[in-house]
Amino acid sequence: MAREATKRSYAPYSHVLVGAAAITAAGRFVVGSNVENASYGLTLCAECSLVSDLVRQGGGRLRALAVVAGDGEPLAPCGRCRQVLFEHAGASLLIDGGDQKATLTLGELLPHAFGPDDLPARSTR
Ligand code: THU
Repeated sequence: MAREATKRSYAPYSHVLVGAAAITAAGRFVVGSNVENASYGLTLCAECSLVSDLVRQGGGRLRALAVVAGDGEPLAPCGRCRQVLFEHAGASLLIDGGDQKATLTLGELLPHAFGPDDLPARSTR
């Protein structure tokens, strides 16, 4: 599904086609593709697009994720996306490494993450 999603990528500037697919705890599939912008910095990554699909479908927790580039091989989620994914998955999210590499967890890619639980714990109000 991630490879299929690269076909709907909008990447006229970098020509890096990215597709993402995940399964939720409820067994639903969500997908996303990167959406670039002429202002470059406003580009939406495939993972952000996937999280948008998750929320649009009613939400839930992400359990396992694959992100690939146009060559069909895994692409490492960028730093911002690791944080965005953490909100909807937590540290246990499994991230496909492809045939040659081990499956990683989001906790390994984003150790000591700041997340929703930190807000009430650290608020001084
Ligand atoms: N990109 C993603 O979609 N996800 C990532 O985690 C890394 C980068 C996209 C953004 C941009 O359209 C292209 O890859 C090149 O940076």
